[in-house]
Amino acid sequence: MRKLSASLFVAAACLIAPTAWSEEPIVIKFSHVVAPDTPKGRAAEKFKELAGKYTNGKVKVEVYPNSQLYKDKEELEALQLGAVQMLAPSLAKFGPLGAKEFEVFDFPCVFPNKEGLHKVTQGPIGRKLLDKLYPKGIVGLAYWDNGFKIFSSNKPVKTPADFKGQKMRIQSSKVLDAQMRSLGAIPQVMAFSEVYQALQTGVVDGTENPPSNMYTQKMHEVQKYANVSNHGYLGYAVIVNKQFWEGLPVDVRAALDKAMKEATVYANEVAGKDNDDALAAMKASGKTEFFQPTAAERAALCEAMKPVYEQMSDRVGKDLVASIQKEAAAK
Ligand code: LMR
Repeated sequence: MRKLSASLFVAAACLIAPTAWSEEPIVIKFSHVVAPDTPKGRAAEKFKELAGKYTNGKVKVEVYPNSQLYKDKEELEALQLGAVQMLAPSLAKFGPLGAKEFEVFDFPCVFPNKEGLHKVTQGPIGRKLLDKLYPKGIVGLAYWDNGFKIFSSNKPVKTPADFKGQKMRIQSSKVLDAQMRSLGAIPQVMAFSEVYQALQTGVVDGTENPPSNMYTQKMHEVQKYANVSNHGYLGYAVIVNKQFWEGLPVDVRAALDKAMKEATVYANEVAGKDNDDALAAMKASGKTEFFQPTAAERAALCEAMKPVYEQMSDRVGKDLVASIQKEAAAK
């Protein structure tokens, strides 16, 4: 009896004691597939730091990089099941969620520059797209940049004719599939974590990625040629499990919103420099031969990929394609 009342006393003391030491933090598992020293990797760490700061330690973000927890497709399932709370998949990977509109970002040469892109991602079109995730149990919080993609391969990739018959790894996007086919290449969907080995062993000849991804995965060590084509965009949507997000105390959610806003500014700031540095480092390594196309040579590539607009506009919505083209080109 005495024992029991003693333990009841301890339990009661726990209940009324200042909660700082006894309260478990809310854990956000943030899984991603790239290296920590990439734009997404750095931004995830920044969010972790700010989330801890603005919630006074009530929230603990655990970042799992490099497909450590899940590969591309699995991480989306894990988010929906609540096994992880936050992800930042590339916009090319939302098709399996039934949100194929996001593939509009994969259209070749659709953004003339970063300013045009930001008008879309930071404006009403971007917001409307994120809202499409809501009925799927997902809240879209922000867009994070990586950068513009370059082609690489173990065979030359200078002109459209060079691509004929080459096996090219792509992300799981039908628009990217159409893009590679428009060049006469053979697209192959593959998880990001498997690309290095596939390039090394010749399972595929080449791929496309922003320099930061190419460099941090050491793809330049297993690719002879690259074309600094900047022909398409690769960026991310930061997403969170809706049930988890809406179950958070209001003040905690507000603090996390603030942390996400600042992490987004940071993400978009570091992305440009990361890609410039990665390209310079790969050039300096001398392992890959980089081709810098003239405006006319790049235009020829864009022209060859134009059939994608005809073939894929219905998939993502003709109006959406038109509004993005208009917004991105507006001064
Ligand atoms: C890829 O699969 O090539 C990219 O989406 C990886 C990433 O998350 O940047």
